[in-house]
Amino acid sequence: MSTTTDRPVPHRWLRRPGPHAPSGTPAATGAPGTTGGSAEHAPSGLSYGADYNPDQWPREVWDEDVRLMREAGVTVMSLAIFSWARIQPTEDTWDFAWLDEIMDLLHENGITVDLATATASPPPWLTTKHPEILPQTRTGETLWPGARQQWRPTSPVFREHALRLVERMAERYGDHPALVAWHVSNELGCHNVYDYSDDAASAFRSWLRERYATLDALNAAWGTAFWSQRYSAWEQVLPPRLAASHPNPTQQLDFKRFSSDALQDYLRAEAAILRRATPDVPVTTNFMVMGETKGMDYAAWADELDFVSNDHYVLPGPQALDELSFSANLTGGIARHRPWFLMEHSTSAVNWQPVNVAKKPGELARDSLTHVAHGADAVCYFQWRQSAAGAEKYHSGMVPHAGEHSRLFRDVVALGATLRDLAPVAGSEQKPSRAAIVFDWDSWWTSELDSHPTDRLRYRQEALDWYSAFLALGVRADVVPVASDLTGYDVVVAPVLHVVPAPLRDRLTTFVEGGGHLVTTYFSGVVDQDDHAWLGGYPGALRDLLGVRVEEFSPLLDHESATVELGGEQLEATLWTEPVDVVDPDVEVLGWYKTGEQAGRAAVTRRAVAPTGRAGERAGSAAYVSTRFGREGLVPVLARLLDDAGVRSELPAAVRGQVELAVRTDGTDDFWFLVNRTAQPVEVPDVAGDVLAGRRLAPSGTTGTASTASTSDVPGALLLDPRGVAVVRRPADPAR
Ligand code: GAL
Repeated sequence: MSTTTDRPVPHRWLRRPGPHAPSGTPAATGAPGTTGGSAEHAPSGLSYGADYNPDQWPREVWDEDVRLMREAGVTVMSLAIFSWARIQPTEDTWDFAWLDEIMDLLHENGITVDLATATASPPPWLTTKHPEILPQTRTGETLWPGARQQWRPTSPVFREHALRLVERMAERYGDHPALVAWHVSNELGCHNVYDYSDDAASAFRSWLRERYATLDALNAAWGTAFWSQRYSAWEQVLPPRLAASHPNPTQQLDFKRFSSDALQDYLRAEAAILRRATPDVPVTTNFMVMGETKGMDYAAWADELDFVSNDHYVLPGPQALDELSFSANLTGGIARHRPWFLMEHSTSAVNWQPVNVAKKPGELARDSLTHVAHGADAVCYFQWRQSAAGAEKYHSGMVPHAGEHSRLFRDVVALGATLRDLAPVAGSEQKPSRAAIVFDWDSWWTSELDSHPTDRLRYRQEALDWYSAFLALGVRADVVPVASDLTGYDVVVAPVLHVVPAPLRDRLTTFVEGGGHLVTTYFSGVVDQDDHAWLGGYPGALRDLLGVRVEEFSPLLDHESATVELGGEQLEATLWTEPVDVVDPDVEVLGWYKTGEQAGRAAVTRRAVAPTGRAGERAGSAAYVSTRFGREGLVPVLARLLDDAGVRSELPAAVRGQVELAVRTDGTDDFWFLVNRTAQPVEVPDVAGDVLAGRRLAPSGTTGTASTASTSDVPGALLLDPRGVAVVRRPADPAR
């Protein structure tokens, strides 16, 4: 292997983040030189690459791989993710020769390496010798080897073997010139987040002792006076294994918190070894901010990393594109708006859906660039070369089974060129919007527990529906974890904010009293951090702020709905209704139930909140939406609320809904990403600036119809191809 230390120039996103700073401050906006790292860490464009599994292929294929990688313009490969059995074929033998060779080969070809610690999937010799590392389900079944990730997050035996491997990897490759980042394990918790084994039980008890200190405190938090559950010794406490009826809800919630923390603790253990060995090499791991993947509280994990990475796969359905944008946006929020790394997505079909659809023309680039629009400084796929064998052989790659002579590979090469054109975007950050949607793992976990008024409620779907309404109106909204600093936003939407401990209630009250406009919905404010109901009427902790009171929930059966009239429109309400009593004189009723049990009562309300008198404060408001309107019904509701708050679309009216606008900024320039959400060409008038990607129609009065990407500021309309994306650089607008 090569031993030189001429490490390639790291990208700006590779800087270790500074301490948490509120959005809008220099540390959070990441203006060059403000968040640590050394000055020579200059940005060098967007990264492009994939998971690379050369160990699945004969040696001669590697030469073709690097030739094609150069043709595609890739810059980074993630190596060794599932290579444990190859690197350590038996407990006492190690084989690094092949990895040395491929690391050197990539380096010689100017390609950097995001090197995995290779601990994702333990080899058969380890699970045969130590079956006690295998996870167990809540019904006591063992997850046997044969697939992957067959390990308990809390197993001391697994940890001992895995951490030894991490040490060996760090020792061997810490100085390799191709190495730009460490990739801890892979998608921690994808298959093993909930383990109910004895190891888990013992670690759960330790976690609970840490949280509650005494059994009395645990008994109080878990409400064990109910159903004779009182514990008199720690040994009696178990994970929520299969029980005769609904397990204790706070036990379930704490087990979710514990399971996320246990994996985070494991992540920290690997990262500590890597940082000790190579303090200058950044550490990441790939999150799964997508769809209903909800076991890991990534907002809490982000501080373990030097830069956030995410894996995202398009989920087919009417909201596929909205969900992609939502996930990318939330990943940016988790990364505190700093650039992040798209570690995996797909060039075309995946293999794990019931039906795996191929991407349509234009979707490969559009999907990737939507992530870039929300702050990704790297576009990477699973995987470089489509496997010939194994469970993922029908999963697309950058080089498909058809080989280089394929539309897919031509699209891959074309995207590489586009990413080079977008080099000026690298290092810029998500530009804060005037509106935000708040996302909260505790509320996600708790609102969907069993024994509730309805089991039909889906927390993330509700948040996504609000986001779809923003997209339909052409208004940008950040998606941010609940702990984020909300000051600076004009409008904050907190859908189904079910868990509201007193400090969160106080933060929201301060936000509104400072002139912010809060919008929240049914089943919000109902419980505290222990999942105990706030007494005196719903919406519990938020009752005074919202100025309404509800005595009893009134969920709807599947075949039932109600009509709500709002601003002259008749909207269909499903899932949930409430007999809302308006108790505060400053509450205005925006929408009324017209049919059903609640006919004649308030359905959507807004309480005007006067400033507290501090200098510079404006009047704020707190709005309550007591039912589910769904993605289409929410459009007029949100339009009314935004209008009253003075938040407007930055897009020309003609293209709202058809085009998504996302903005990045480096403080000097703003980068407007205009994403065509339709399969037709769309003209966007009135967007001044240098076109980095996409094209303009020639200005009227000149001949010709379109000019291709140029850096000149032509005043013609932008022409977005079907599913196309344009990127325009403009002088930074200091608006917010
Ligand atoms: C991810 C995983 C990859 C690959 C991919 C397929 O969950 O990290 O290894 O399995 O999905 O979509």
